[in-house]
Amino acid sequence: LKFLCLSNDGIDEHMIWLIGLKNIFARQLPNMPKEYIVRLVMDRSHKSVMVIRRNQVVGGITYRPYVSQKFGEIAFCAITADEQVKGYGTRLMNHLKQYARDIDGLTHFLTYADNNAVGYFIKQGFTKEIYLDKDRWQGYIKDYDGGILMECKIDPKLPYTD
Ligand code: ACO
Repeated sequence: LKFLCLSNDGIDEHMIWLIGLKNIFARQLPNMPKEYIVRLVMDRSHKSVMVIRRNQVVGGITYRPYVSQKFGEIAFCAITADEQVKGYGTRLMNHLKQYARDIDGLTHFLTYADNNAVGYFIKQGFTKEIYLDKDRWQGYIKDYDGGILMECKIDPKLPYTD
């Protein structure tokens, strides 16, 4: 089992995994237009943290780091159907927090959570209250009707992974 953070860098193996992840998002997020998913997953300003098991993608999180603003926007998050509720989603989020803090220098995440995923995000430390100064995120993330804006503060010191 491995956790990787990568983006569209032209490496064959990375492209295969990004396409696998895109297919999981398309299936698990049926309300999202497929072209929109492909565009963001392949966009070079987005990164994807993914779980790989036996050389297959089990799930992942695609996000856009706004380094100057020190926050990241989570665009998509999903685990393949037959591997849900086994703890992968939690481990994935912990790896994301570690990468975002240590590599991108981020302090917060924002996401538009689907109604049915609010419980998952609350368990990952997200809140419906937005404490982050509006100046830091307004104009950076787009308004989106189909979800609830949620925030997570990344602990500056906590070891999120072992
Ligand atoms: N609602 C409420 N609680 C949930 C949900 C949910 N939809 N999914 C998982 N949980 C709970 C689990 O019961 C578990 O609780 P516990 O720690 O008390 O046992 C905890 O959250 C973590 O569970 P994991 O096993 O780590 O979660 P999983 O691997 O299933 O990943 C995920 C969660 C990503 C939401 C997955 O179920 C999934 O892909 N769902 C379908 C797609 C989806 O809704 N994605 C999010 C859309 S919003 C967005 O992309 C920005």
